[in-house]
Amino acid sequence: MDPSWGIVRYLKEKEERFGLHVEKEPIVTITQPPIGGELTKERVLEAVASVQEPAVGRSLVELRMIPAVEIDGNRLVLTVELLSPIAPYRDTIEQELKTAAGAIPGIETVDVTFLTRVRASGSGKADADPIAGVRNTIAVASGKGGVGKSTVAANLAVALSKAGAKVGLLDADVYGPSIPLMMGQGAKPLVRGGKIVPLEAHGVKVMSIGFLLDPDKALIWRGPLVAQLITQFLNDVLWEDLDYLVIDLPPGTGDVQLTLTQKIPLSGAVIVTTPQEVALADAVKGLKMFQEVKTPVIGIIENMSGFACPCCGTVTPIFGEGGGKRTAAAHGVPFLGDVPIDPRIREGGDTGSPIVAAFPDSATAKAFAHLAEAVAVQLARDAATKPRKPMIKLMQARPTG
Ligand SMILES: Nc1ncnc2c1ncn2[C@@H]1O[C@H](COP(=O)(O)OP(=O)(O)OP(=O)(O)O)[C@@H](O)[C@H]1O
Ligand SMILES: [Mg+2]
Repeated sequence: MDPSWGIVRYLKEKEERFGLHVEKEPIVTITQPPIGGELTKERVLEAVASVQEPAVGRSLVELRMIPAVEIDGNRLVLTVELLSPIAPYRDTIEQELKTAAGAIPGIETVDVTFLTRVRASGSGKADADPIAGVRNTIAVASGKGGVGKSTVAANLAVALSKAGAKVGLLDADVYGPSIPLMMGQGAKPLVRGGKIVPLEAHGVKVMSIGFLLDPDKALIWRGPLVAQLITQFLNDVLWEDLDYLVIDLPPGTGDVQLTLTQKIPLSGAVIVTTPQEVALADAVKGLKMFQEVKTPVIGIIENMSGFACPCCGTVTPIFGEGGGKRTAAAHGVPFLGDVPIDPRIREGGDTGSPIVAAFPDSATAKAFAHLAEAVAVQLARDAATKPRKPMIKLMQARPTG
């Protein structure tokens, strides 16, 4: 057995559990040297050094996104590890790599293979432990009730899962859980080894207090009990290996929000608002709460922004328009996009079929896919530019003597 196996497994476990950034040197395989000369890993990496990850604005080599290089005579195969499952710049990266590496003397063909490795991000507070195996945690919040948090959380989770990510959805609205109905799941979860096994719906691992209690029961919790419940959802659920855990919050800035921001290093919060002033004022309160507790705000989503008449296509801005974008600009946070009013969203919400799953080709589903992309890219940028400490560097063993 490879003697380094033990340490590699140890580091891999640490990386998964704590989101440690483990640096690895690219693995180079030389099947056959190119005709007429030597070609080293350094020469290949130097040739492609100017190719950047456009969303992050830094070189692929510097970001250690090229884990493997294969040299086979006059053919070069580069493996690129994308930072997010939805990589809008994939074709640009491929083209630029082909041009840059194609200029190496002796190389005639350049092939690029893509993999995805979502990296861990998080505010990294010293007193908050990450959830085992979960790389990114996204809180979906708003100051106001009924603006579409649960709808956005459910569709965001399904859109990320459809893009190929491993996704979980935690219903942290312990007062009025909507996720069981919206995701079409109501079974009682199993307990394995003292941990609750989340249910599966539309490719997403789901957990909600609604799975454990009578749906008609009024849920009244005192503050300390809320903290205890949320802590159990984070630690006593078998989330296992997740790229993203989307967390649907109750409205406002109360016990649930406080517990979450204290217990885990949230990657960030997405603030949902509708376009009218009365909702925007509350959205700003939500946004400020996250900023006060040093949790990054990933951005603002404007929901219910306009209704397109099914007969003539005329868009009527029922709740006004542009409020989300204006608020984002005024508070210096990204505007992630908008979602129109669409009766199929409400129908899907009531019947357990999020529109992203039920009508994947609709313009509304595409709006959610666009939001998922914006969130994933933003998190990838955070993870790549703010690697969490401590950083461990893995070197290839050099022969001694
Ligand atoms: N863009 C939309 N078009 C049509 N209906 C929508 C849209 N967004 C949300 N809805 C509907 O509005 C209602 C409220 O949405 P949702 O439950 O997601 O809001 P919420 O912010 O989570 O509410 P709460 O604060 O009570 O948790 C639901 O019936 C949902 O299906
Ligand atoms: Mg809700």
